[in-house]
Amino acid sequence: MRILLLGPPGGGKGTQSKFLMEKFNIPQISTGDMLREHVQNKTELGIKAKEFMDNGELVTDSLILKMMDVRFKQHDCNNGFILDGFPRTIVQAEGLEELFSKTNQKLDHVIVINVNDDDIVERMSGRRVHPQSGRTYHIIYNPPKHENLDDETNEPLIIRDDDREETVRNRLTVYHNQTKPLIEFYSNNVINIDGSKKIQTVKHNILNELK
Ligand code: AP5
Repeated sequence: MRILLLGPPGGGKGTQSKFLMEKFNIPQISTGDMLREHVQNKTELGIKAKEFMDNGELVTDSLILKMMDVRFKQHDCNNGFILDGFPRTIVQAEGLEELFSKTNQKLDHVIVINVNDDDIVERMSGRRVHPQSGRTYHIIYNPPKHENLDDETNEPLIIRDDDREETVRNRLTVYHNQTKPLIEFYSNNVINIDGSKKIQTVKHNILNELK
C-alpha cells in the first residue's frame, strides 16, 4: 500500500497519517519531520534547510530528492508507506516517478485533504507537537491527556517555529503556487476528502475510500 497525502499546511496530513500507519502497519514518511530532525542535529542538510523552513519556503528539489532516495532504500519501506509532504512540486513528482521506475513501484492512492485558508490559520495557532515522534495535537480539537505533555512519553510539547501567522500565510501561498498543481498531475488517481470536518469524520471518510 503506497499512499500519498496531499493538502495544505495544517490540513491534517500528519494527524491522518498516524491513523493510516496503525491501520495498514506501514511507516509514515514525513519530509517535514525528517528535515526538522536534520535541523535539530545541525547536519549539512539541516543547516541548508533551516532558512527555507523558517520563512515558509520550500527546500530545494534536489536536496529533497536525494534525501528520499536514501529513505526509500530502508527496509521498513518494503511493504509500502504513507508519503506526507512529498512530493510538493512537479519536479519532485517527476523525481519520484524516476525513483519508483527503478524499483517497479507506483502510488496506489493519492488522497487530497481540502481545507480553506482561514480555517488553516486558526488551526495552526492551536497546534502543539511532540518533536521526537512528530505526534500532533491541538489545544481545542485534539488536546493531549495532560496539558502540554505528549500522551505516550509525557515529554513537553512545543509550538513549531513556522506556525506563526505570517509564516503560515506564506506557506499557504507556496502551497497554492507550487503544490496544488500536483492535483492535476495525479488527476487519474485522486481521492478528494473534506478536511474541514472533525478529525474522526475525516479518518472515517478516508478509510471508507480505501476499502
Ligand atoms: P511539513 O512539516 O510537511 O508541513 P506542512 O505540509 O506545512 O504540513 P503540516 O505538518 O504543517 O500540517 P499537516 O497537514 O500535517 O497538519 P496536522 O495534522 O499537523 O513541512 C514544513 C516545512 O518543511 C515546509 O514549509 C518546507 O520548508 C519543508 N518541506 C517539507 N517537505 C518538503 C518538500 N517535499 N519539499 C520542499 N520543502 C519541504 O494538523 C494541523 C493542526 O490541526 C494540528 O494541531 C491538528 O491537531 C489540527 N487538526 C488536524 N485535523 C483537524 C480537523 N479535522 N479539525 C480540527 N483540527 C484538526
